[in-house]
This record gives sequence, structure tokens and C-alpha cells, in this order.
Amino acid sequence: MSNALQSVSLGTPLSPSAARVMLLGSGELGKEVLIALQRLGVETIAVDRYDHAPGQQVAHHARTITMSDPAQLRALIEAERPHLVVPEIEAIATPVLEELEAAGVVRVIPTARAARLTMDREGIRRLAAETLSLPTSPYRFCDSLAELQAAIDGHDGQPGIGYPCIVKPVMSSSGKGQSKIDGPVDVTQAWDYAMAGGRVSHGRVIVEGFIDFDYEITLLTVRAAGRGAEAGQITTHFCEPIGHLQVSGDYVESWQPHPMSPTALQRARDIAQAVTDNLGGQGLFGVELFVKGDRVWFSEVSPRPHDTGLVTLSTQVQSEFELHARAILGLPVDTSLRAPGASAVIYGGVDAQDVVFEGVAEALAEPGTDVRLFGKPESFVKRRMGVALATADDTDTARSKARTAASRVKVKATQRG
Ligand SMILES: Nc1ncnc2c1ncn2[C@@H]1O[C@H](COP(=O)(O)OP(=O)(O)O)[C@@H](O)[C@H]1O
Ligand SMILES: [Mg+2]
Repeated sequence: MSNALQSVSLGTPLSPSAARVMLLGSGELGKEVLIALQRLGVETIAVDRYDHAPGQQVAHHARTITMSDPAQLRALIEAERPHLVVPEIEAIATPVLEELEAAGVVRVIPTARAARLTMDREGIRRLAAETLSLPTSPYRFCDSLAELQAAIDGHDGQPGIGYPCIVKPVMSSSGKGQSKIDGPVDVTQAWDYAMAGGRVSHGRVIVEGFIDFDYEITLLTVRAAGRGAEAGQITTHFCEPIGHLQVSGDYVESWQPHPMSPTALQRARDIAQAVTDNLGGQGLFGVELFVKGDRVWFSEVSPRPHDTGLVTLSTQVQSEFELHARAILGLPVDTSLRAPGASAVIYGGVDAQDVVFEGVAEALAEPGTDVRLFGKPESFVKRRMGVALATADDTDTARSKARTAASRVKVKATQRG
């Protein structure tokens, strides 16, 4: 795989000289990537499955299609002919991306192969554990309740995964359909929950041994322009580790930096380097790792900005979104920390359209506190509608500030007449 840096020449939006970038998925993470691209005068095309998605509100062009439909995706890319296609979500017809990349029609970020391997849990887990021999939780893939029970118990002389374990649909994110099994009575319920929560109903799950970690981190890893002797080459840059708290498989709080022993940090970087070297291309990756003492396990990787990395909007000189934008364009990056900080998710708490936000002034009253509201046209009880950010001298203080700020923002349904 070539490590030569690829650059996009920057020009004037809406003119023949424009650098044109298409985001496939335009949620809150895509919105920030689009803003970073806009600041460099890139012409942007924001694609999502529904109108008025957050990123569509800040892009030059908005397009609404079903991105998992190969015909729709191909037609759009061929009509728009962007210089770069940047996947922001997993549920994309990735074979189309591979074909168009191979035909030289577009460059896919970081690579079309990375988008395919990370679109479900199986491709990336087999790559990490079986091809790269990285430490992961023990796991099996199962297509029925009977196979799941056999994977847990062991069969034909094979040891089982045992209890406790975690069951996840192979196609799902944000903890959807995911549950922990503590003993035999939970197995049927976990299977049924996974069948209801998966993105497509082909009924395949991964069962993983439960890792009793001390903490988990996201290690943001950037493949971008090298400096000095490495100019013209892609080199790997690491951000400070991000600690995070997940509730029911969904991120609720994150903070940076998370302290690590020198051995654990080195192992985390070695794992992140091995995975991202293999996936290749240019861009930022969110490498999720579990840590216990000096032991480190690979969990999963996003070949794009990570939700827990929203904290970098306040903690880093360049946020993960700016890093991604610069890396894909072939520009140098700066991964340094500006200040310790934290983020806390603002959930909808209500099922309603065109909601209003109360308490924002109160949330911002404390110095060093900030809020982002994503502008989603519809709120759900468990939908992420915004995020509170805070910086402080230490992450504990920042976490408490961010939590307080988030709790002050109230999402309210309006009376529609
Ligand atoms: N094998 C495991 N052992 C312990 N905790 C786990 C395991 N797998 C997942 N988790 C917990 O569930 C969270 C979500 O799981 P993850 O595989 O990252 O799913 P998603 O793709 O939905 O983010 C993790 O961040 C971690 O807190
Ligand atoms: Mg995850």
C-alpha cells in the first residue's frame, strides 16, 4: 500500500477551481467536519437520509438519498463527481465505493476498503484479531439462538465464551440491540433484543467475553502529512487519550486527557498504529481500547471522527474535525492539547418535532463552559440533540462543569397550532 501523501488543490467554491468534498452522512459529527472544510474554502455536498440533517444546514449543497442503496449512491456520486467522498456513517453501499475508487472516479476517505471492513463488526474484528493478531475479547459470530447458546457453553471440545458476555448485532451502533448476559436465563432475551435492534434483519450477532476493564479510551489517530524528512509521506499522529463513560452502549460523557501508565500508552499506540496502517489512506480514526493495568485490548475503530471526540472541540488546538479535514486534504496537522476538558451529552428527553431549548444562558453562565446544539429537526427521548463542553485545570472539575451545563439545557416540545 502506498504511503505517498495525496493532496487536493484548494480553490474557489462554486467555481471550476473548487475543491469539492461529499460527506456521506451529515449528522453532528459530519456538521463539524463540514464547518472545518468550509473554513478552507472547500465546496461541500452534505448527503443524508432525511432533509435538514445537521450537516446539510452548513453545506453548499444538500442531497437526500438512501445511502445503503447501491443505485442511488452510484448515481449521486457520478452526477456530482466530488474530489473526495467522506463516509460519516457505517450503513453505506460500500461495494459501490470500492468500484468507483478502483475505477479512479473518486477518492474515498480513508479508503473504500476501510469503509467496507468497518461497516459491520465482523470485518474489522477478524482483521484485528485474526490477521493482525491484536489482543481482543474472545468472540464468536452466531446466526441463531442455538448457535449463541453453543458459543457460550462451548461445543465439540471447543471452550465456550462463558458468562458474563456481551451480545451485539453485527450491524448496529450506539449500543442498539446490545446487552450483557450474566447467566443462562438472560440468553433468549439478549438474542431477541439483538434481533430487534440490528440495522438489517439478517440476524447475525457477535458474542464477546466481558472484559472487566479499569477504564476505556478512544485514541484518536491521524494519518496525515509528515514534516521534515517525512514530507510528502503519510505519517501517524496521536492525540492525547480520551476517557469516556458509556451507558447501555451509548456515550454520555468523555474527557481528555485520560492518564495512562507509560506501558499501557505505548501498547495502545502500537495497536492503533497496526490497525490504521492496515486500513490505510488519509484521515482521522477513533481507536477504541479497553485497559486494565498495563493490559490493553482492541475493541473497535471508526475510520472517521468519533462521538467521544466531541470533547476535542474545547480541548485541542485543532479539534478531531479540523484534524480530519486537514488530513484528507493533504495538509499538516497539530494534535496538541490546549487544556484538559470534558463533554456531556444533551439528550432530547422528549419525542417531538421542532423543539426549543431552554436554559442555554444558564448552562453558559460558568466561565470555560460551551454548548453545541445540533439543529436536528426531530427529537427523541434518547436522541443526542447537543453537547456541553468544559475546560478546567483538571478533568474531574471539567467533567462536573460539563455535566452541570448539560443538565441545565432543557429540550421542550412546542405547541403546534
Ligand atoms: N467485550 C466487552 N467487555 C466489556 N465491555 C464491553 C465489551 N464490548 C462492549 N463493551 C461496552 O459497550 C460499549 C459499546 O460497545 P461497542 O462495541 O463500542 O459498540 P458500538 O459500536 O455501539 O459503539 C463499549 O464502549 C464498552 O463500554
Ligand atoms: Mg463503540
